[in-house]
Amino acid sequence: MVRALEERKHSVTLVDTEAFQLPMLDLMYKEYDPSDAPPAMRDVSGILEAADGFVVVSAEYNHSVPAALKNLLDHFQSEYLYKPSAIVTYSAGPFGGVRALVNLRSILAELGTPSIPSAFPVSRVQSAFDNDGQAIEQAYNERVVKFLDEYEWYARALAKARKQDHCAEAAPTQQSLCRGTVE
Ligand SMILES: Cc1cc2nc3c(=O)[nH]c(=O)nc-3n(C[C@H](O)[C@H](O)[C@H](O)COP(=O)(O)O)c2cc1C
Repeated sequence: MVRALEERKHSVTLVDTEAFQLPMLDLMYKEYDPSDAPPAMRDVSGILEAADGFVVVSAEYNHSVPAALKNLLDHFQSEYLYKPSAIVTYSAGPFGGVRALVNLRSILAELGTPSIPSAFPVSRVQSAFDNDGQAIEQAYNERVVKFLDEYEWYARALAKARKQDHCAEAAPTQQSLCRGTVE
Protein backbone atom coordinates (compact mmCIF):
# COMPACT_ATOMS: atom_id res chain seq x y z
CA MET A 1 0.00 0.00 0.00
CA VAL A 2 2.82 2.41 0.82
CA ARG A 3 4.47 1.70 -2.50
CA ALA A 4 1.21 1.87 -4.44
CA LEU A 5 0.43 5.27 -2.90
CA GLU A 6 3.95 6.59 -3.48
CA GLU A 7 3.77 5.53 -7.11
CA ARG A 8 0.76 7.84 -7.31
CA LYS A 9 2.96 10.67 -5.97
CA HIS A 10 1.48 10.74 -2.49
CA SER A 11 3.62 11.42 0.52
CA VAL A 12 3.03 8.46 2.85
CA THR A 13 3.95 7.98 6.50
CA LEU A 14 3.60 4.46 7.84
CA VAL A 15 2.32 4.38 11.42
CA ASP A 16 3.15 0.89 12.66
CA THR A 17 1.73 0.12 16.10
CA GLU A 18 4.90 -1.81 16.86
CA ALA A 19 7.14 1.13 16.01
CA PHE A 20 5.05 3.70 17.90
CA GLN A 21 4.61 2.02 21.26
CA LEU A 22 1.69 3.84 22.85
CA PRO A 23 0.68 3.02 26.42
CA MET A 24 -2.60 1.27 27.11
CA LEU A 25 -5.18 4.04 26.85
CA ASP A 26 -5.51 6.14 29.99
CA LEU A 27 -5.55 9.73 28.75
CA MET A 28 -6.23 10.69 25.16
CA TYR A 29 -3.59 12.88 23.53
CA LYS A 30 -5.83 15.95 23.85
CA GLU A 31 -6.03 15.41 27.62
CA TYR A 32 -2.27 15.81 28.09
CA ASP A 33 -0.46 19.04 28.42
CA PRO A 34 1.44 18.76 25.09
CA SER A 35 4.82 18.95 26.83
CA ASP A 36 3.87 16.00 29.10
CA ALA A 37 2.51 13.68 26.39
CA PRO A 38 4.59 10.60 25.59
CA PRO A 39 6.80 11.45 22.59
CA ALA A 40 5.40 8.58 20.48
CA MET A 41 1.88 9.93 21.04
CA ARG A 42 2.93 13.41 20.03
CA ASP A 43 4.61 12.03 16.93
CA VAL A 44 1.54 10.05 15.88
CA SER A 45 -0.70 13.06 16.49
CA GLY A 46 1.49 15.18 14.21
CA ILE A 47 1.44 12.54 11.49
CA LEU A 48 -2.35 12.12 11.63
CA GLU A 49 -2.89 15.89 11.75
CA ALA A 50 -0.80 16.43 8.62
CA ALA A 51 -2.56 13.68 6.64
CA ASP A 52 -5.39 14.15 4.16
CA GLY A 53 -6.62 10.60 4.78
CA PHE A 54 -5.82 7.22 6.27
CA VAL A 55 -5.34 3.82 4.70
CA VAL A 56 -5.82 1.53 7.67
CA VAL A 57 -4.21 -1.91 7.34
CA SER A 58 -5.38 -4.50 9.84
CA ALA A 59 -5.05 -8.14 10.73
CA GLU A 60 -7.99 -9.89 12.37
CA TYR A 61 -7.96 -10.95 16.00
CA ASN A 62 -10.93 -12.97 17.22
CA HIS A 63 -13.11 -11.64 14.41
CA SER A 64 -12.30 -8.05 15.24
CA VAL A 65 -9.60 -5.42 15.24
CA PRO A 66 -6.25 -6.15 16.94
CA ALA A 67 -6.14 -4.44 20.34
CA ALA A 68 -2.92 -2.59 19.49
CA LEU A 69 -4.58 -0.92 16.49
CA LYS A 70 -7.75 0.01 18.42
CA ASN A 71 -5.60 1.37 21.23
CA LEU A 72 -3.63 3.56 18.85
CA LEU A 73 -6.75 4.83 17.06
CA ASP A 74 -8.55 5.67 20.31
CA HIS A 75 -5.85 8.06 21.53
CA PHE A 76 -6.75 10.66 18.93
CA GLN A 77 -9.82 12.56 17.80
CA SER A 78 -9.62 15.95 16.07
CA GLU A 79 -6.76 14.66 13.90
CA TYR A 80 -9.25 12.49 11.95
CA LEU A 81 -12.10 14.86 11.32
CA TYR A 82 -13.38 15.39 7.78
CA LYS A 83 -10.77 13.11 6.27
CA PRO A 84 -11.58 9.79 4.56
CA SER A 85 -10.19 6.39 5.44
CA ALA A 86 -9.80 3.23 3.38
CA ILE A 87 -9.69 -0.24 4.89
CA VAL A 88 -7.21 -3.01 4.06
CA THR A 89 -7.38 -6.29 5.97
CA TYR A 90 -5.56 -9.57 5.64
CA SER A 91 -5.65 -13.08 6.98
CA ALA A 92 -3.86 -16.38 6.58
CA GLY A 93 -7.14 -18.12 5.75
CA PRO A 94 -9.79 -17.59 3.09
CA PHE A 95 -11.80 -14.75 4.64
CA GLY A 96 -9.30 -11.90 4.27
CA GLY A 97 -10.05 -10.40 7.68
CA VAL A 98 -13.53 -9.26 6.60
CA ARG A 99 -14.91 -9.48 10.14
CA ALA A 100 -12.26 -7.03 11.34
CA LEU A 101 -13.13 -4.94 8.28
CA VAL A 102 -16.78 -4.67 9.29
CA ASN A 103 -15.79 -3.67 12.81
CA LEU A 104 -13.30 -1.12 11.53
CA ARG A 105 -15.96 0.61 9.43
CA SER A 106 -18.00 1.51 12.47
CA ILE A 107 -14.94 2.47 14.54
CA LEU A 108 -13.58 4.77 11.83
CA ALA A 109 -16.99 6.37 11.27
CA GLU A 110 -17.24 7.14 14.97
CA LEU A 111 -13.72 8.58 14.98
CA GLY A 112 -14.78 11.00 12.25
CA THR A 113 -12.90 9.44 9.35
CA PRO A 114 -15.60 7.54 7.45
CA SER A 115 -14.30 4.75 5.22
CA ILE A 116 -14.76 4.72 1.45
CA PRO A 117 -17.25 2.15 0.10
CA SER A 118 -14.62 -0.15 -1.43
CA ALA A 119 -12.30 -2.15 0.79
CA PHE A 120 -9.26 -4.32 0.18
CA PRO A 121 -9.40 -7.67 2.00
CA VAL A 122 -6.50 -10.02 1.27
CA SER A 123 -7.05 -13.77 1.72
CA ARG A 124 -4.13 -16.15 2.29
CA VAL A 125 -1.79 -13.21 2.51
CA GLN A 126 1.25 -15.50 2.68
CA SER A 127 0.67 -16.67 -0.90
CA ALA A 128 -0.94 -13.49 -2.27
CA PHE A 129 2.11 -11.26 -1.63
CA ASP A 130 5.84 -11.92 -1.32
CA ASN A 131 7.93 -10.70 1.60
CA ASP A 132 8.63 -7.41 -0.18
CA GLY A 133 4.92 -6.72 -0.52
CA GLN A 134 4.80 -7.45 -4.26
CA ALA A 135 1.61 -9.15 -5.40
CA ILE A 136 2.04 -12.77 -6.45
CA GLU A 137 -1.63 -12.93 -7.43
CA GLN A 138 -1.98 -10.42 -10.26
CA ALA A 139 -5.62 -9.65 -9.45
CA TYR A 140 -4.40 -7.56 -6.52
CA ASN A 141 -2.47 -5.24 -8.85
CA GLU A 142 -5.72 -4.54 -10.71
CA ARG A 143 -7.86 -4.23 -7.58
CA VAL A 144 -5.49 -1.74 -5.97
CA VAL A 145 -5.89 0.70 -8.87
CA LYS A 146 -9.67 0.91 -8.48
CA PHE A 147 -9.41 0.97 -4.70
CA LEU A 148 -6.93 3.85 -4.62
CA ASP A 149 -8.71 5.73 -7.43
CA GLU A 150 -11.76 5.80 -5.17
CA TYR A 151 -9.77 6.74 -2.07
CA GLU A 152 -8.07 9.59 -3.92
CA TRP A 153 -11.43 10.93 -5.07
CA TYR A 154 -12.68 11.18 -1.50
CA ALA A 155 -9.37 12.51 -0.16
CA ARG A 156 -9.25 15.23 -2.83
CA ALA A 157 -12.91 16.18 -2.39
CA LEU A 158 -12.69 16.44 1.39
CA ALA A 159 -9.33 18.27 1.28
CA LYS A 160 -10.92 20.84 -1.01
CA ALA A 161 -13.88 21.25 1.31
CA ARG A 162 -11.64 21.55 4.38
CA LYS A 163 -9.45 24.16 2.80
CA GLN A 164 -12.13 26.46 1.49
CA ASP A 165 -11.89 30.05 2.74
CA HIS A 166 -14.75 29.84 5.20
CA CYS A 167 -13.07 27.04 7.06
CA ALA A 168 -9.50 28.22 6.89
CA GLU A 169 -9.26 29.88 10.26
CA ALA A 170 -10.47 27.07 12.47
CA ALA A 171 -10.65 23.42 11.53
CA PRO A 172 -14.27 22.33 11.92
CA THR A 173 -15.00 20.00 14.76
CA GLN A 174 -17.64 17.33 14.85
CA GLN A 175 -21.16 18.68 15.15
CA SER A 176 -19.83 22.19 14.66
CA LEU A 177 -19.68 22.16 10.89
CA CYS A 178 -18.04 24.75 8.79
CA ARG A 179 -20.94 26.03 6.70
CA GLY A 180 -18.98 27.64 3.88
CA THR A 181 -20.00 27.13 0.26
CA VAL A 182 -17.85 24.82 -1.81
CA GLU A 183 -16.45 26.74 -4.78
C1 LIG B 1 -5.36 -13.55 19.63
C2 LIG B 1 -5.40 -13.83 18.16
C3 LIG B 1 -6.61 -13.96 17.52
C4 LIG B 1 -6.67 -14.19 16.15
N1 LIG B 1 -7.89 -14.25 15.54
C5 LIG B 1 -7.94 -14.39 14.21
C6 LIG B 1 -9.20 -14.31 13.55
O1 LIG B 1 -10.25 -14.15 14.15
N2 LIG B 1 -9.22 -14.43 12.20
C7 LIG B 1 -8.05 -14.59 11.47
O2 LIG B 1 -8.12 -14.66 10.25
N3 LIG B 1 -6.84 -14.66 12.08
C8 LIG B 1 -6.76 -14.55 13.42
N4 LIG B 1 -5.53 -14.56 14.05
C9 LIG B 1 -4.32 -14.68 13.24
C10 LIG B 1 -3.71 -13.30 12.97
O3 LIG B 1 -4.59 -12.48 12.26
C11 LIG B 1 -2.42 -13.46 12.18
O4 LIG B 1 -1.50 -14.12 13.02
C12 LIG B 1 -1.85 -12.18 11.68
O5 LIG B 1 -0.83 -12.47 10.77
C13 LIG B 1 -1.27 -11.35 12.80
O6 LIG B 1 -0.71 -10.20 12.23
P1 LIG B 1 0.23 -9.27 13.10
O7 LIG B 1 1.37 -10.15 13.54
O8 LIG B 1 0.64 -8.21 12.13
O9 LIG B 1 -0.59 -8.80 14.23
C14 LIG B 1 -5.46 -14.35 15.41
C15 LIG B 1 -4.23 -14.24 16.09
C16 LIG B 1 -4.20 -13.98 17.43
C17 LIG B 1 -2.86 -13.84 18.11
